[in-house]
Amino acid sequence: MDITFLLNGETVELGGVSPTYTFLEFLREYRGLNGTKEGCNEGDCGACSVMVTDGDGARAINSCILFLPQLHGKAVRTVEGISGPNGELHPVQQAMIDHHGAQCGFCTPGFVVSMAVAHLNGDTDFDTALAGNLCRCTGYAPIIRAAEAAADVPVPDWIKDDLTILDGRHGAHPLVPDSSDALAAILLDNPDTTVIAGATDVGLWVTKGLRELSPVVFLGGCEDLKNIEVSATEFRIGAGVNINELGALMDEYHPSFGDMIRRYGSLQVRAAATIGGNIANGSPIGDGPPALIALGATLHLRRGDVRREVLLEDYFIAYGKQDRAKGEFVEAVRIPRQEDRLKCYKLSKRFDQDISAVCGCFNITVVNGVVTQARIAFGGMAATPKRAGHVEAALVGQPWNSETVAATRGAWDKDFTPMSDMRASAAYRIVTARNLLTRYFMEDSGIATNVLEVEA
Ligand SMILES: Cc1cc2nc3c(=O)[nH]c(=O)nc-3n(C[C@H](O)[C@H](O)[C@H](O)COP(=O)(O)OP(=O)(O)OC[C@H]3O[C@@H](n4cnc5c(N)ncnc54)[C@H](O)[C@@H]3O)c2cc1C
Ligand code: FES
Ligand code: FES
Repeated sequence: MDITFLLNGETVELGGVSPTYTFLEFLREYRGLNGTKEGCNEGDCGACSVMVTDGDGARAINSCILFLPQLHGKAVRTVEGISGPNGELHPVQQAMIDHHGAQCGFCTPGFVVSMAVAHLNGDTDFDTALAGNLCRCTGYAPIIRAAEAAADVPVPDWIKDDLTILDGRHGAHPLVPDSSDALAAILLDNPDTTVIAGATDVGLWVTKGLRELSPVVFLGGCEDLKNIEVSATEFRIGAGVNINELGALMDEYHPSFGDMIRRYGSLQVRAAATIGGNIANGSPIGDGPPALIALGATLHLRRGDVRREVLLEDYFIAYGKQDRAKGEFVEAVRIPRQEDRLKCYKLSKRFDQDISAVCGCFNITVVNGVVTQARIAFGGMAATPKRAGHVEAALVGQPWNSETVAATRGAWDKDFTPMSDMRASAAYRIVTARNLLTRYFMEDSGIATNVLEVEA
């Protein structure tokens, strides 16, 4: 069966296409649509941004790490389709001209696409919307001015049309099963199959690692893996929930986690990346696992019809080794409902769009001035996301004061022996990890420590 999608309003049907052919390659090498640019080819610069629309709405996605089957049943607009069928300029394009938003122009198609998505969605937080688009020469002020100027101009009809034309187009595909039951059956029959969710990791295996991946299966058609269930006792978050959706949930219940998610990649990366992929990849520097471990999350795994649960902290066994059998996949993650005591601290060289050097998440319960429970988890401090068991033990049962915090000093070296790499030295990591507990204590005592909150 062919892969079918709408490209700039026209139906495209492709047969016999390699499942790891990227949409950017397709556009530039096969389709001759060269407006979409290749910058980094790894999701970092946004020059390749395209607008992807499905039943959940429109979002900007980096086409360099987007495989063609991920578009099955969806609508895509490239910069060529942002302008109208008769060459009419989109309001953001006109505003970019009026406000001198381009110099060399290499980044401009990507900016225009991100701006058009924000315009369609009524999103006026342009710093966030454009954090995934890099410009080396114009500077951001004119670009932001252009986005602001276009905000109140009505959305052109040709952009709105995609949603109506899309109706009824979604269908199952051998590589894109439409339910978790179908996915489970494929993986049981072919346990060596690589699961591809958002492809924000797997995409780089292909574009940078030049790896041949076969066989593969795409998780994006399994709507039942995209559910978020909120009950009185827990949140059950499907593996296919993307990081932006997770962020919106956490904004409400654990806002510090939501704030950290705002610094996770870019809007484009978060719109593609899933929580299942962020956990399953086993990365020691992923931002989701430390926060989820601090919240006491449980992972739901499934192989065929057999389901099991593991505490998330037990899923990570060693570097590159997780408690997941062949043919087994992550179905969901469950977080118990609790009072919000969580603080997440992401330390990275850049504020936006950077991988953590250290990611520390603290969830400490205090009753009548005494610590009754402590869950502290870190990324970037060990070969896996890891709890600070000795530090936790040094806190529980003690009065919640600066002396107790200081007394944990010797426990940190028992919990962590971090390494030095291009992101940070071992010494930096251990000192900052220790200091983050002090920061948590100070914030809990009402003292502002976040540079963004401190006013002169
Ligand atoms: C530019 C850029 C910036 C980034 N910034 C951050 C950041 O700030 N913080 C951060 O934590 N990460 C970051 N990442 C890494 C990446 O976005 C995350 O790890 C992401 O959550 C992976 O999810 P995915 O759905 O894209 O996974 P994929 O790439 O599709 O898959 C990743 C791995 O998980 C497996 N997998 C996926 N889903 C399942 C499942 N349900 N069951 C079993 N196995 C599965 C795949 O087989 C693969 O091994 C960044 C990536 C890029 C490209
Ligand atoms: S080319 Fe840089 S994000 Fe795709
Ligand atoms: S205009 Fe040159 S990179 Fe943005």
